[in-house]
Amino acid sequence: MKTALVTGADRGLGHGLTENLLENGWRVFAGRYMSEWRELDELAERFPDTLTIVALDVASAESVGAARDAVAAEAQSLDMLINNAGVATRTNPLTIRENPDYDEMHRLYDVNTLGPLRTVEAFLPLLDRGSLKRLCFVSSEAGSVAASQRNSWFAYCMSKAALNMAIKNLFNDLRPQGYTFRVYHPGWVRSYMGGLKNDNADLEPREAAGYAIPFFTSSRDDEDRLVLIDYRGREWPW
Ligand SMILES: NC(=O)c1ccc[n+]([C@@H]2O[C@H](COP(=O)([O-])OP(=O)(O)OC[C@H]3O[C@@H](n4cnc5c(N)ncnc54)[C@H](OP(=O)(O)O)[C@@H]3O)[C@@H](O)[C@H]2O)c1
Repeated sequence: MKTALVTGADRGLGHGLTENLLENGWRVFAGRYMSEWRELDELAERFPDTLTIVALDVASAESVGAARDAVAAEAQSLDMLINNAGVATRTNPLTIRENPDYDEMHRLYDVNTLGPLRTVEAFLPLLDRGSLKRLCFVSSEAGSVAASQRNSWFAYCMSKAALNMAIKNLFNDLRPQGYTFRVYHPGWVRSYMGGLKNDNADLEPREAAGYAIPFFTSSRDDEDRLVLIDYRGREWPW
């Protein structure tokens, strides 16, 4: 049985990814950030033998280390890590003439960019012993410098562009050690990024997960080329 860790699994896409993996027979460790949100408990009732919920705040090295210890207590290895946890700014996107919020930029950078790095670092010893050595990153089209048309959204766009650079450096380091990489834009998902569920978006989290999981779990012809792929299989420029 293959094992995976999903970060930010309480709701939205991360919950959909967790559910999809469980339905496909994976053993899943699901990162819980929101102790008051109960959707993961419902999944734990359906999959008592294959789902373990672990407290995980990717913005805290201490929390990531404790989550690693909790997973290591139950599993010898991990096959796949899905770095999904992410935040968007809850303030309106501000242009440079509207007092951009620099504290908010720091907050998003800490979660969206440094969070995946912290998580990879902490879980690498378990992944080293896994059979798949698969590192997945939920990035965004918003991180594409070449395709950008936005005149604001500094915090989110910059955090995802920097994440893409972090992934490239990881790829240069870890690909020769047998690791394989998936960098993904999930489309516009009816998730909770603004705090409330966005029913105007295109895809239910479960549907979005149905597109993502085949990309995350299947092999690619050219693992030596790092690509940013969206839910329709289209490649985005960096
Ligand atoms: N929704 C879209 O259209 C869209 C498009 C492109 C990319 N993405 C990416 O998709 C990923 C999943 O987002 P989503 O749309 O599913 O949003 P979501 O519904 O807000 O889910 C993200 C989950 O991560 C949690 N989280 C926040 N900070 C965390 C931390 N420090 N450590 C661990 N977990 C944390 C969130 O909790 P809180 O709710 O308390 O913040 C939430 O439960 C993100 O990386 C996002 O950037 C989303």
